[in-house]
Amino acid sequence: MSFTIAIDGPAAAGKGTISKAVAAHFGFGHLDTGLLYRAVGSRVLLGAEPAEAARALTAQDLSADGLRTAEVAQAASKVAAIPEVRQALVDFQRAFAMRAAGAVLDGRDIGTVICPDADVKLFVTASAEVRAMRRFKELQETDPSVALQAVLADVKERDARDMNRADAPMKPASDAVIIDTSDLGIDEAVALAILEIDKKRGTS
Ligand code: CDP
Repeated sequence: MSFTIAIDGPAAAGKGTISKAVAAHFGFGHLDTGLLYRAVGSRVLLGAEPAEAARALTAQDLSADGLRTAEVAQAASKVAAIPEVRQALVDFQRAFAMRAAGAVLDGRDIGTVICPDADVKLFVTASAEVRAMRRFKELQETDPSVALQAVLADVKERDARDMNRADAPMKPASDAVIIDTSDLGIDEAVALAILEIDKKRGTS
């Protein structure tokens, strides 16, 4: 029987780390749906038409190099506002969610649009300043010239675009549990997420 965990939230809130840890804990598969939009965005930066790039996407494209840059993140959030792009990516995400072994999907619209019947919905958030600092430290590992102010501006611009788009805007599902990681270490955030999931699985 499938068991689906939807983890949504804004850029660099800790969704990815929490999702990976939760998937490992329960032995579930994990899909970072942001990678789908990043892969489309990176094709568009190379000249592709957005909806065509989304329709042509394959699972291998998700492991391409260079998808984690700030430039690709911005391109991803632009293509993510195009309804035809979002539509082309729905079936792949829903098929993943139905895996018999259990699935964790993280993104922006998993609990609201992709998997409205998910067994557990979490919305992971943190202040823009805390999120920018985390992303700054990540990006600094590959690009020492990155500036904190630029990362903060980038995070805020992307959040605004993701929240205000007409199609599948980022927002917590009405039945989502909000986890604010501003003052939490990663272990505490993961423990909270596991606690919420255990409640729904009836094992605590
Ligand atoms: O890692 P980070 O949180 O910075 O971003 P991401 O999850 O890789 O997502 C990149 C962009 O893809 C976001 O800014 C969204 O515009 C878009 N996205 C989306 O619209 N819906 C999703 N389910 C996942 C990502």
